Amino acid sequence: MEIDRRDFMKLAGLGGIVFASGLGGRILGATRPKQEDFYFVQLSDTHIGFEGPKVNPDAKGTLKKAVAAVNSLDQKPDFIVFTGDLTHTTDDANERRSRMTQFQDIAGQLNVKTVHYMAGEHDAALDRGDAYQEFFGKLNYTFDHKGVHFIVLDNVSDPGAIVGETQLKLYPQWDWATVDAKGVIDSLMPYKSVTVFYGHIHQEHHYMTGHIAHHAAKSLMFPLPAPGSAPKRAPIPWDAAAPYKGLGYREIEADVKTARYEISELAIPGD
Ligand SMILES: [Fe+2]
Repeated sequence: MEIDRRDFMKLAGLGGIVFASGLGGRILGATRPKQEDFYFVQLSDTHIGFEGPKVNPDAKGTLKKAVAAVNSLDQKPDFIVFTGDLTHTTDDANERRSRMTQFQDIAGQLNVKTVHYMAGEHDAALDRGDAYQEFFGKLNYTFDHKGVHFIVLDNVSDPGAIVGETQLKLYPQWDWATVDAKGVIDSLMPYKSVTVFYGHIHQEHHYMTGHIAHHAAKSLMFPLPAPGSAPKRAPIPWDAAAPYKGLGYREIEADVKTARYEISELAIPGD
């Protein structure tokens, strides 16, 4: 899809945030004059419907644990964002919807007013986002929060995975690249502070494209190896000695005035 140029104009040269689900949607945000700090929580790659006891024997319980952990945070986050792959891919359209229902049943337990969803390729690539839209609404949209303007972009429902390239060309051999992000990055470059939060690669990862920082989030279902560190992009097996190792979620504190975002990585509490 094409980014609405006018949305970028709203950035007005101030700080901004981009969320992405790897090959998935993105949210772009920028500070506006009325500034108030806040924090939000990012959950990613929950892959409901995935089964693999050697990878995650608690496949049905991990997201529930994360939800409980988020609900027990001392201070409530202003909102929660799921950066894609809510469900694990399936060829069966009914099963896809069943997984989305299961996801909603669990995510619906989150004790916050606002939850923002975006699609990942597992959710939306096989049916151009039809089921996703039935359950979660639009694949791309905008919202404002405390002086920050967010734009959610979608590039998973297009078979060509349009939107993205330079910022996500992490390891093309494993499909960890986006076909056409150049337009996105080109549009972001003029703004002095832009931060990208994304999922998809199932591990914490940080890098820069010019002055734009990119922060990949952990999965809540299975971790993947560091780019190129293993022969295959296969899930890392469960370690009984360290349950939920490599899984987790994050808090992001937004210092709106300075456009700084402080990330705290949080683990899944064990049984
Ligand atoms: Fe994923």
